[in-house]
Amino acid sequence: VRPQVIALDGPSAAGKGTLARRLASHYDLAHLDTGSLYRAVGRRILREGRDPKDATYAAETAANLQPVDLKDPELRSEATSQAASIVAAIPAVRANLLAWQREFAKAPPDGKQGVVLDGRDIGTVICPDADVKLFVTASPEARAERRFQELQAAGANPIRRAVLDEMASRDRRDSERATAPLLPADGAFVLDTSDLDADAVFDRVVAFIESKT
Ligand code: C5P
Repeated sequence: VRPQVIALDGPSAAGKGTLARRLASHYDLAHLDTGSLYRAVGRRILREGRDPKDATYAAETAANLQPVDLKDPELRSEATSQAASIVAAIPAVRANLLAWQREFAKAPPDGKQGVVLDGRDIGTVICPDADVKLFVTASPEARAERRFQELQAAGANPIRRAVLDEMASRDRRDSERATAPLLPADGAFVLDTSDLDADAVFDRVVAFIESKT
């Protein structure tokens, strides 16, 4: 079996990225990390010294996003994460990134026959007709611990409490915004990964997909 569209949503550090890459390779699908689009918008605005809350400017930046913006080395920094979730709450920013994401799902690049998109609103807004909808989550403590380990592994010197607080403020913004808040789609397979490693997550999701098809 090969799903055509896998919609994978969930909060940060719940294991979406690793799972999406493994599913893409297992089913030979193209993968789009949609968070990187919001990050690229947020990062470009910071680089230009502008305010991420300026809705008009953020919407223009989203409309004019360039491939090079997706390669910025600061895309995964904490400042970029916060700016990304600020611009992501602006409806015109989301609207300007929508067509591009749908096009990716409809016409996968590199000769692939299907896609996996990961983000916050894939099953609810971008691909409501996806054949597989997944929602992976984990406790705030488990997610903060993963993020803490990642930062340490990357050579940073993070403070546990600050990592937890920053994640909580981003979660709040992503869940409480009026447009496309973070929510499991109807019919989504919801998986709490707090006590599961990447292999166990992958095995459970593949078992779910095989049971559907
Ligand atoms: O997934 P990631 O942490 O890279 O996403 C960065 C930010 O982009 C999120 O905090 C969220 O505000 C926003 N985002 C979104 N919708 C998506 C993907 C990401 O609003 N589909």
